[in-house]
Amino acid sequence: LEVAASTEVKSEPTKEAIAAKREVTILYGSQTGNSQQLAELAATQLKEQGVDVILSSMHTYKPKQLKDVKHLLIVVSTHGEGDPPDHAITFHEFLYSRKAPNLEGLAYSVLALGDSSYEFFCQTGKDFDERLAALGGTRLYPRVDCDLDFDEEANEWLTGVVKSLAEQSGEPQAQTETKGPSTTSTTYSRSNPFQAEVLTNLNLNGRGSAKETRHLELSLEGSGLSYAPGDSVGIFPENDQALVEALLEKTGWDEEEAVTINKKGDVVSLKNALCCHFEITVLTKPLLEKASLLTDHQGLKTLLHPDHAEELKAYLEGRDLLDLYEDFGPWNAGAAEFAGILRKIPPRLYSIASSYEAEPEEVHLTIGAVRYDANGRSRSGVCSVECAERKEPGDTVSIFIQKNESFRLPSEEAPIIMIGPGTGVAPFRAFLEERDERGIESPAWLFFGDQHFTTDFLYQTDFQRWLKDGVLSKMDVAFSRDTAEKVYVQHRMKEHGAELFTWLEDGAYVYVCGDEKRMAKDVQDTLIAIIQDEGQKTEEEAVAYLTAMQQQNRYLRDVY
Ligand code: 2AM
Repeated sequence: LEVAASTEVKSEPTKEAIAAKREVTILYGSQTGNSQQLAELAATQLKEQGVDVILSSMHTYKPKQLKDVKHLLIVVSTHGEGDPPDHAITFHEFLYSRKAPNLEGLAYSVLALGDSSYEFFCQTGKDFDERLAALGGTRLYPRVDCDLDFDEEANEWLTGVVKSLAEQSGEPQAQTETKGPSTTSTTYSRSNPFQAEVLTNLNLNGRGSAKETRHLELSLEGSGLSYAPGDSVGIFPENDQALVEALLEKTGWDEEEAVTINKKGDVVSLKNALCCHFEITVLTKPLLEKASLLTDHQGLKTLLHPDHAEELKAYLEGRDLLDLYEDFGPWNAGAAEFAGILRKIPPRLYSIASSYEAEPEEVHLTIGAVRYDANGRSRSGVCSVECAERKEPGDTVSIFIQKNESFRLPSEEAPIIMIGPGTGVAPFRAFLEERDERGIESPAWLFFGDQHFTTDFLYQTDFQRWLKDGVLSKMDVAFSRDTAEKVYVQHRMKEHGAELFTWLEDGAYVYVCGDEKRMAKDVQDTLIAIIQDEGQKTEEEAVAYLTAMQQQNRYLRDVY
């Protein structure tokens, strides 16, 4: 009977048979959740087209399966200096290893996320795209590289991919329009942010501190939004009015000039566009390349010459659009045309510092105000200083919830080790508030650090209360500037190396949050050293131990 059925399928393919032919594997490598969300969106849309979808994070995907895949979509971000996100490392390595299969017969497409202010923009996506081709795969649809303002490009890629897949299988596309990341108007999201009222805005640092860390409490009332510990909030900031005005004055542009702000063709006044829609505080190489076509100034062309890569890098650091105008203006373009080369202002992500279970209508954030002097002017982090200086109780902030499924509390029995100096402590306040609310009593160990005990011990009373109540079992702190020699969280970890290794052997989950370049790197080196020393392993074995933890979701990082 089976044989008869399959013969029948051959001559007259049923819908099911076509759908089976159109099975698509979607793999994502996400650090902050953007790639995951876009991969999920792709999965939803393809399913609506009757396609069978296998959706997986790269770190839990068995790479050996790849050789049987016919259609593959990759959504991956790039981290740091062109590196794959944590969850893409092993899959990336696999494709470059001798174990990588021949992929002739594979049709694929890559959506690469990145930030054009970094030299190795979308490098991981480019790697996958090139490597899959080298292994014999063919592009189903060309790779799309997205900048921080990825919404429009990501949507174009998705539409293109869905169309190509339909064409390949000779199947007319079902009449479902591909939707952008937005859903319905009642659902608040990145493309439809919620205006959250500020309830509280406090400085957590004491008088005399070199730092200013704000504790923001926002109301979610009426939003229908909820979140889990580990999630982040995205805030759409507004540029500093003073900088916008200085720019308008310098350029002589008319603030009322009509400016198009997106591909849909929405128009606002130039002043509004510069305040709320375009990024004016960050310079990137692609922006300078476009600007160089709009000026006769030779200096900019010289700076962009490949021989001056180092000078360019130094120039981009700590400069904004006002500097660019002063150094290389005027532009042979009106305001509206010039605005066309600007990047849309991207939302800033902050790890949530509260538990929805404990505070259902609220979300708390821990925001370090970024202020520094550079190139003869004082500079401010757009969003952090807006929150520090210009958001009072009663004001609103434009927000959405960014899910981060890869930074979650484990099952109730597992021990957890949390390492979060500075604002990196935010998600651990959320973890502990959640444990308190749900009565979770598994062992929990917090490492916190900052400059001074008296002024910088963020959430000190919360942590001490949880320590007393047993919500937190151990806390070790490192105040780097209270002693002649600096002490950091990793020094405390090292001091307790033997015990820490016992926790790891007992199945502890390790969470790291905060500065990526220095802190998270040093913490990782220290973890490897502890595993090596206490577990009597070679360095190679210690690295493998940590990699295995990562694959079991037991070593998780939320770093920036
Ligand atoms: P520092 O500013 O005195 O150097 C939170 O910002 C804390 O992290 C501060 O105490 C800061 O110390 C510390 N810190 C800076 N670099 C670090 C690193 N590489 N590893 C761990 N902590 C670090």
